Amino acid sequence: MPVTPQQLIRWKEQGRSIVALTAWDYIIAQILDAAGTDLILVGDSMAVVLGHETTLPITLDEMIYHAKSVRRGVKQALMVVDLPFLTYQESLQQAMHSAGRVLKETGAQAVKLEGAYPAMLETVARLVQAGIPVMAHVGLTPQSIHQLGLRQQGKTEEASNRILNEAQALEQAGAFSIVLEHIPTDLALKITNKLRIPTIGIGAGVHCDGQVLVTSDVIGLSEKQPPFAKVYTNMRQAIAKAVQDFSVEVRERKFPE
Ligand code: KIV
Repeated sequence: MPVTPQQLIRWKEQGRSIVALTAWDYIIAQILDAAGTDLILVGDSMAVVLGHETTLPITLDEMIYHAKSVRRGVKQALMVVDLPFLTYQESLQQAMHSAGRVLKETGAQAVKLEGAYPAMLETVARLVQAGIPVMAHVGLTPQSIHQLGLRQQGKTEEASNRILNEAQALEQAGAFSIVLEHIPTDLALKITNKLRIPTIGIGAGVHCDGQVLVTSDVIGLSEKQPPFAKVYTNMRQAIAKAVQDFSVEVRERKFPE
């Protein structure tokens, strides 16, 4: 049975940790899905895989193009697509239009969006009422890089209380899950204990209900990784070695045999 948003909530109740990773095309999605990943996110961090410095330049059409490819590789995992910068913040109508396009055109089951200010809470509630499952994202929100930088968030008591309140408000608005990015471990634990919906951490410590990482970091494809990522294999080196071996064999006329 494919994973659903409700399943993630049941897993939290059962204390089963949720595994989430990002994907940007069919091949990566197929590998992640077959390996048992619970949630596959077509994250706007894909902008970096496409050569951008930040997540801001990626467009809704680009997200949809890649999400369609990911969809073809996903059989079991819950598939979530990020709404990119300024495709949902302008108005409720814009958010509904963008999220609707994502679900209709890609076959994803849910969208993710960043922030928790009052208009965004209203947007989350209205999307959910319209039948669009929403994953929320607080703490370090990369679409606000020009305001927040890439620094850890929630370090002062005031900031920590604000993020806790935001998480609770997003749950109330109807989000089925929430990404906690780059916040202190004790704050993530507090939020995780207070919420009924699962928290998915990235740079938020071990107490979240699940963990997400950017796949290009996990497999060592990215040129550089954030401090909280873990590199499990070095695909840059593996690819470079394969290319060098191929080049030698072509130049020495050893391939094809
Ligand atoms: O875009 C992305 O990859 C994300 C993760 C960092 C959660 O939002």
